[in-house]
Amino acid sequence: MRRLLIAGNWKMHKTVPEAVSLVRELKELLKDVKDRDVLVCPPFTALYPVREELKGSSIYLGAQNMFYEEEGAYTGEISPLMLKDLNCSFVIIGHSERRRIFKEDDELINKKVLSAVRHKITPILCVGETLEERESGETEKVVERQLKRGLRGISEDDEFVIAYEPVWAIGTGKSATPQMAQEVHLFIRGVLGELFSKEKAFQVRILYGGSVKPENAKSLLEMEDIDGALVGGASLKADSFSKIVKFEEA
Ligand code: 13P
Repeated sequence: MRRLLIAGNWKMHKTVPEAVSLVRELKELLKDVKDRDVLVCPPFTALYPVREELKGSSIYLGAQNMFYEEEGAYTGEISPLMLKDLNCSFVIIGHSERRRIFKEDDELINKKVLSAVRHKITPILCVGETLEERESGETEKVVERQLKRGLRGISEDDEFVIAYEPVWAIGTGKSATPQMAQEVHLFIRGVLGELFSKEKAFQVRILYGGSVKPENAKSLLEMEDIDGALVGGASLKADSFSKIVKFEEA
C-alpha cells in the first residue's frame, strides 16, 4: 500500500532563525507520527541549519529546485551533489512557479528529473493545468504532456513522486474539490500505467497541491488516489502544517 507523504514547500520564505524555529516546533508536534512520511522543503539558504535541527527526527529534508549538472560554471545554481551533501532525500522539480516565472520547459524539467534519480534524490515532479486550460477542457491533455515529457527516460526501478497542482488552486484559497482532484489523480495513474507496468503505476505516490489547509486536508487525503499533499502557505506555521499531517481540522 502507498504510504502518505505530506510535504511542505516553504517557497521563498523563512530566514535561518525562522526556519530553525519552525522545524523545532514541528519536531515536537509531530514526534508521535509514525504511519506517514513528512517532508519539509526550505529555501536553499536554510537547508544546512534545518538539516542540523532535524538530526534524530524522522522528518525528511528536501529542496525546491536544483540544476542537473554536478558542478561547473552555472552561476546561481545548486547541484544534486550539493543536495546529497545535505541529506536531501527529495527535490521538487517543475513547480508551476518555476515553469511560469523562470520559463522552465518540459525538456529542462526532464533533465532535472533524470539527474535527481541518477543521484538517488527522489524527484517530486509537479504537473497541473491553468484555469484557462481547465475551462477549455484541456486538463488531461496538459497533464499527460507534462508527465510524458517530464518522465522521458525514467525507468521502472527509478523512484519518483508526482504532485498534481492545478495552477488556479495555488495560493488562491480555492482548492480543487476532493472529487475533482481524485479524477485527475486517477487519470495520472492511468498515464503512468502506459509508461510503466501496472504495479509501478499503483506504487507511485501522487500528491495533491493547491490551497491545502487543515479544513480540507482530510477530505482530500481520504480519496483513493491522493497519496499525500504538497502544502505551500499552510506549511509556514507549525500549527497548521502539523494539523494537516495529522488530519486535524482547524
Ligand atoms: P498553496 O498551498 O499556498 O496554495 O501552495 C501550493 C503549492 O504551490 C505547493 O507547492
